[in-house]
Amino acid sequence: MTKAIRYDKTGGPDVMKWVDVDVGEPGEGEVRLRQSACGLNYIDVYFRNGLYPQPLPAGLGMEAAGEVTAVGKGVSALKAGDRVAYVARPPGAYAQERVLRADQVIKLPDAISDEAAASIMLQGLTAQYLLRRTYRVKAGDTILIQAAAGGVGLLVCQWAKALGATVIGTVGSDEKAAIAKAHGCDHPVVYTREDFTARVREITNGAGVPVVYDSIGKDTYTKSLDCLAPLGMFVSFGNASGPLPPIDSSEFAGRGSLFFTRPTLFTYIAKRADYEANAAELFDVVASGKVKTSINQRYALEDVGLAHADLEARKTTGSTILIP
Ligand SMILES: NC(=O)c1ccc[n+]([C@@H]2O[C@H](COP(=O)([O-])OP(=O)(O)OC[C@H]3O[C@@H](n4cnc5c(N)ncnc54)[C@H](OP(=O)(O)O)[C@@H]3O)[C@@H](O)[C@H]2O)c1
Repeated sequence: MTKAIRYDKTGGPDVMKWVDVDVGEPGEGEVRLRQSACGLNYIDVYFRNGLYPQPLPAGLGMEAAGEVTAVGKGVSALKAGDRVAYVARPPGAYAQERVLRADQVIKLPDAISDEAAASIMLQGLTAQYLLRRTYRVKAGDTILIQAAAGGVGLLVCQWAKALGATVIGTVGSDEKAAIAKAHGCDHPVVYTREDFTARVREITNGAGVPVVYDSIGKDTYTKSLDCLAPLGMFVSFGNASGPLPPIDSSEFAGRGSLFFTRPTLFTYIAKRADYEANAAELFDVVASGKVKTSINQRYALEDVGLAHADLEARKTTGSTILIP
């Protein structure tokens, strides 16, 4: 028996229970992992509170790192003792041990520790596709990232800076502004007291930005659209404040033939070749030091309720890991 988090009804952090589970032996094409660190992500909150429904009872958590302890029939690329990490569906990463398909995990290079991997598989691969594929950031671009001091936010700030962009980022407090600034955000905007649209227009001499990466959703939607230059791209990649209102396409025409996309990481890593290539690019940029991981909170996995409460109360910065 090992322990894992399960929930049988949606609701607040207290619906998550630390229970005994039997993960069993890996079947054909599967591996069993002993996990040493799990990542905490906002998507875990959406599953827990029911915004993203799934059949219950179920596990939670999308990413972790650890060691392969057994491989099933037909698995040749991995062996017991290999260090690996993953971001994978269905939720269930909040666990001491787990059985997964071998093609869902990635072998870790020596330069990436288990804890670093658990903090970047989801948030770092998200930063990768946002900056390198959804809208390919070029040197000289000025971009806007919402929640710049958050998990995805700090990775996006550093990576965009490394690509030669000027980064404008919104944050909820002066303390977060200082953290974002130390991670490559040229213009942190404390949007609880400053009008971020006016600041974007001022910084860009009225031109607006070619891309807004918005993970806040309901509260920032219209003002984010107002930051875009004609032909700009609105990237709606999250809903920390609640989902967007129904989309009115005339808003995109009126502001100058804007583009809208609602991307998800799992589309961008659906093919194994993309998953491997994107992870390799992420590990390289982290190993080079251009992008540093920011594990600013650690909790015992058993105390994940506290971790969720802190994330939702906007008390966290950077990434959070859970130790099983
Ligand atoms: N589509 C994808 O592929 C994908 C992948 C990864 C993450 N995401 C999304 O990206 C976002 C960031 O994820 P993360 O895990 O890195 O979280 P995070 O940014 O570390 O935490 C969320 C932050 O959002 C801000 N926020 C604004 N309004 C909020 C509200 N009403 N309630 C709570 N927070 C609010 C807070 O920062 P301030 O205090 O500075 O406002 C908070 O710290 C989430 O929306 C997540 O769903 C999407």
